[in-house]
Amino acid sequence: MPSACITGVGMYVPPRVVTNEELRTWYDTSDEWIYARSGIKERRWAEEPASTAELGYYAAKEALQAAGKSPNEIDLIIFATLSPDLYFPGSGVLLQHRLGLETTPALDIRQQCSGFVYGLSIADQYIRTGTYRTILLVGAEIQSTWIDYNPEGRTVGVLFGDGAGAVVIEACEGENRGILSTHLYSQGAYAMELCVAEPSSATRAHTLPGSYGMRPYMNGKEVFRHAVQRMGEAVQVALTHQGWRPDEVDLYVLHQANIRIVQAVAEFFSLPMERFFNSIHKYGNTTAASIPICLAEAEREGRLRRGDKVILAAFGSGFTWGSAALIW
Ligand code: COA
Repeated sequence: MPSACITGVGMYVPPRVVTNEELRTWYDTSDEWIYARSGIKERRWAEEPASTAELGYYAAKEALQAAGKSPNEIDLIIFATLSPDLYFPGSGVLLQHRLGLETTPALDIRQQCSGFVYGLSIADQYIRTGTYRTILLVGAEIQSTWIDYNPEGRTVGVLFGDGAGAVVIEACEGENRGILSTHLYSQGAYAMELCVAEPSSATRAHTLPGSYGMRPYMNGKEVFRHAVQRMGEAVQVALTHQGWRPDEVDLYVLHQANIRIVQAVAEFFSLPMERFFNSIHKYGNTTAASIPICLAEAEREGRLRRGDKVILAAFGSGFTWGSAALIW
């Protein structure tokens, strides 16, 4: 049975940097508050008209180049996003067309901040069963267009950013590396604690103007409490499954929602923060894109080397969460 190996990583963030200071244009907030509560200094915003598929395309191109693959060698595209270009169809087919492909299957998944880990798990299954040999997995988001710029939107509005990350996952035989295990969970009882409720099938289109609209809702404290617990559990299940001690892992890449969540997990496992790769200070929470963006930067900075033991973990809206253990 082949293993699924990540053979190329890429990322793209829009050039426009939005500092905490600039957010004061809309919100009664401060750099001190945002940095102390989340670890975020700045984020990127796409210029409008913005396209999530287009951000994904730039990241995908980089990943394909790194893997030495051309688009027509892709057997399946998996596109993870909570901010698709259209209500339907998903952004996967738009990316497929942009890559110049004719009939390559494209699968969109809606697991929010856990989208990349879920996508990795799906790719792993297809490759292990021999169905596909080369899969492009993209996590991309444009969130600056749904942020609530009204004063009451500040708690959520300061946290999120735009960006994209991508990996090429290939069948590899006899290389002693690849995805070792993935562990997925969800708990719909908390679906309404972090959501954008519209547009929705529960609301008739003609009622939209006077209704709540596309504003995000987040119960920050509840989300934080669950995120710390679930992310820790997700890391633990991956460690247990592999029989690894926490300090045997070379690099942890946790979804970048809030640096305090990563700090809490590091503390729980008595690990130094240097074992965790973070980029939240530069990009904020880029949801499905945050883990592949970290992987691309970690590799670029020499923090990820062939043979390294790596654990990925994510938690997000749904609630959904999960982890993956791999040898780089
Ligand atoms: N700037 C300044 N003040 C703000 C603010 C902002 N952007 N947003 C909220 N505040 C205020 C609140 O109004 C509140 O004021 P009050 O005490 O006068 O009522 C105060 O700051 C504290 O707010 P609180 O919500 O208690 O802050 P917190 O310590 O819980 O931190 C979050 C808020 C959002 C940073 C934190 O709850 C969090 O990170 N939650 C998880 C977020 C997350 O991970 N989401 C994605 C999951 S994938």
